[in-house]
Amino acid sequence: MTRDIEQRKRDHLVLAQNDALNFSISAGFDRWRFIHNALPEINLNEIDTGTTFLGKELQFPLLISSMSGGIEESFNFNANLATAAESVGCALGLGSVRAGLENEQARDSFLIAREKAPTAIIMANLGIAQIMDSQSMDRVATFCGDLQANALIIHLNSLQEAFQPEGDTQFKGALNAIKTWVREFPLPLIVKEVGQGLSIEVIQKLQEAGIKIIDIAGAGGSNWISIERERLSEDQSILKQTAHEFANWGEPTAEVLETLGTDMCVIASGGLKRPLDLPKALALGANMGGIAGALLKQAMATDTGQLIEQLLVWKKTLKMAMFGVGVSMIDELIGNRHLLHKID
Ligand SMILES: Cc1cc2nc3c(=O)[nH]c(=O)nc-3n(C[C@H](O)[C@H](O)[C@H](O)COP(=O)(O)O)c2cc1C
Repeated sequence: MTRDIEQRKRDHLVLAQNDALNFSISAGFDRWRFIHNALPEINLNEIDTGTTFLGKELQFPLLISSMSGGIEESFNFNANLATAAESVGCALGLGSVRAGLENEQARDSFLIAREKAPTAIIMANLGIAQIMDSQSMDRVATFCGDLQANALIIHLNSLQEAFQPEGDTQFKGALNAIKTWVREFPLPLIVKEVGQGLSIEVIQKLQEAGIKIIDIAGAGGSNWISIERERLSEDQSILKQTAHEFANWGEPTAEVLETLGTDMCVIASGGLKRPLDLPKALALGANMGGIAGALLKQAMATDTGQLIEQLLVWKKTLKMAMFGVGVSMIDELIGNRHLLHKID
């Protein structure tokens, strides 16, 4: 991996912690509240937050969304995330494995995840640009085998790339490449954005292409256009000023859920900031929630105590919300909009 790419990844880890670079619009979960049910007719200890995903059991339907890999700092970072995922029983998406494909030395920062989480669902991640390179499939499959990955996540990030001077902006043919991978790649595929979100129309196209699991990765949380803007130097003033115009560009996650009716498996990520956003996302129709930015600071710590505690707060909040509305199983919560009231 070149120094430039390594530096970019370091910049990303630092800048993504700056809340001022988040979207100023919300993902929309604050426009919903649960209707309290004072007669839940269930016992708290009978509530089961467990679910199945990719044929495996999860203690609760949460994905730690793809973040890092390939630089020295990612080794501990991914070790922490994997330890936490294994401990609390949620799924883990790793950051783009591109670096691990190009450089032997970068592989350990990914493989450590499987070492720390022998039974967890771990997913590899790759940008669409690498998917469009027809030479890469065998190498990716081998890497996923070494990682014992349960699936491969493909990220679409057209505007993020466009605001990187060195970005990869060849997106013509992306859908066809996805169709080829659906036919030929040995693992299940998940397609996500990185914070600008998948619109209803794009989700339909992905479904027609054979994709069965999508992650909205919508607007409201980490904002890759603003983060890339911060990395631009003053002599890239035109691109920098243009990036300001796009500071709130994207599909807010809750809005996509509100209009989406699909039989696909839907992961809702992008702007889930508060633990109550998870049960709200489920009631709006998601099968699972995903969080990245909300865990970033804890994941950078030297030990996993705070990270695990934070994830357990998300899990406990889900259980309490289920008690508050009177449902005992996750399947009764998913898509049950009667449990929610929209605040106008
Ligand atoms: C530091 C950092 C690095 C990220 N790297 C990747 C990546 O390599 N691949 C990817 O698909 N998404 C990446 N993302 C995007 C997240 O997976 C997620 O889609 C996005 O941050 C929106 O979720 P959030 O609002 O909870 O942060 C990254 C996010 C963060 C915060």
